[in-house]
Amino acid sequence: AHSFPIYTQEEVTKHRTLADGVWVTYKGGVYDITDFVAMHPGGNKIMLAAGGALEPFWALYAVHGQDHVLEILSEYKVGELSPEDCKQQEASLSDPYSSDPPRHPALRVNSQKPFNAEPPPELLSDSFITPSAIFFKRNHLPVPKVDPETYQLEIEGLPGGPVSLSLAELKSRFPKHTVTATLQCAGNRRSEMNQVKQVKGLNWGIGAISNATWSGARLRDVLIAAGYTPGTVAQHVQFEGLDRDVTGTTYGASIPLRKAVSEDGDVLLAYEMNGEELPADHGFPVRVVVPGTVGARNVKWLGKIALSQEESSSHWQQNDYKGFSPCTDWDTVDFKSAPAIQELPVQSAITQPAEGSAVDRSAGELTVKGYAWSGGGREVVRVDVSLDGGRTWQVAQLQGGDKQEGPAEAPPLGRAWAWKLWELTAPLPEGAQELEIMCKAVDNSYNMQPDSVAPIWNLRGVLSNAWHRVTVRVEE
Ligand code: HEM
Ligand code: MTE
Repeated sequence: AHSFPIYTQEEVTKHRTLADGVWVTYKGGVYDITDFVAMHPGGNKIMLAAGGALEPFWALYAVHGQDHVLEILSEYKVGELSPEDCKQQEASLSDPYSSDPPRHPALRVNSQKPFNAEPPPELLSDSFITPSAIFFKRNHLPVPKVDPETYQLEIEGLPGGPVSLSLAELKSRFPKHTVTATLQCAGNRRSEMNQVKQVKGLNWGIGAISNATWSGARLRDVLIAAGYTPGTVAQHVQFEGLDRDVTGTTYGASIPLRKAVSEDGDVLLAYEMNGEELPADHGFPVRVVVPGTVGARNVKWLGKIALSQEESSSHWQQNDYKGFSPCTDWDTVDFKSAPAIQELPVQSAITQPAEGSAVDRSAGELTVKGYAWSGGGREVVRVDVSLDGGRTWQVAQLQGGDKQEGPAEAPPLGRAWAWKLWELTAPLPEGAQELEIMCKAVDNSYNMQPDSVAPIWNLRGVLSNAWHRVTVRVEE
């Protein structure tokens, strides 16, 4: 048998461009796939794995689980990965993040500890349901390890006194309800605000949004079983996470009681995501899913629910996730003066083509793709796209397309919880050497996005929903 040279991960990582050669690893083998890149049936996505392992990407695209794919790969083998690099690096025991779960390498990491990351745009619009592995992750604290056997959900603030439910009881005592809902972080697209003037917060691109199916007990059913009646005196439902900082402070948030108990609010105590047990990063074993409401209120690793007259006293409800005027700065801001963000405004963004990329004149036409969503269950009814900096507009096609399995039927009025993917294929404008592509969405209340960022700039960089703009070069 042929014996191959041994390479370290460091050497492999150096090969991630066509100029330097494109290397990948698979099951301990090292492959130089430079010559295969242009022939790849899945196109340029192959470059996402350059310099690293194929396994996590092939897990996303099961089409690779076929013998002929492995045969192709074997032709490009150039070496073996060193045994040390085959083992995962163990973080030191003193690190509170050491038991955080493994993450998908396609994620664009905004911060490692706590872990915050978003999928690359071209993967985001690839599927109506975002695979859990690349669903954006927004953690304020280490991921807590929760034992599902001993897990107890505490419920307080009801006339009959406190109630506690095990995971088994939550699953067996209440009907399982499934909702497809998009989660968006209030800070999605914050990086565009940073370009106007520096704001505080993680520098999210357009990927702090994702769409999944969630299954669990309806919060309404659980509250009624715990003693809630329409006469119960309370305005808010508070949620407390099991994730805590070094001082013992837990993550917390609240939503209006009205939303929590509404029959068509669809608020879930979810124990499944995309048909599987909730992943550790997304709140195992139980999280709240509040469709139509900002990500921050969708509390993960849920430990406690409390009905009360007041909102949650948590930092994240009181002194964060609020919007302000562009004239408000850190010296003048009064967090008490603004309401906590709940429903989010209408949003859309372009996922393809990528900013700064080149399009080929000879192709004659261009396909633009993206997502659109609105808060509060308002349905996106139209997306307008311009290829010429806003001089002329065309209406994009919502859903459809070959790989975008959308929902079977239109959502019930007021319960449009899922995003819409959209697409437009149009002739390239004559003569232009550069295209400024823009998109803007309209929801069924005729809410529209503001045209630019500066007038909605705010010190925390939240609610960034101006027309999205992408500039590409046209190559002759
Ligand atoms: C399809 C090979 C890496 C994404 C395919 C197919 C082959 C192939 C042979 C066609 C399969 C069929 O239809 O029977 C390879 C090889 C790779 C590689 C040899 C590495 C050396 C990747 C990576 C990604 C990817 C890293 C994503 C990040 C895709 C997609 C398709 C595909 C999306 C489906 C294309 C379509 O038909 O729509 N690949 N692939 N591939 N590949 Fe890969
Ligand atoms: N719940 C807990 N317990 N801890 C958190 O840090 N982050 C919140 C929310 N729920 C958070 C949480 C924020 S700000 C967002 S945007 C969403 O979770 C992100 O959910 P995801 O990581 O499943 O995408």
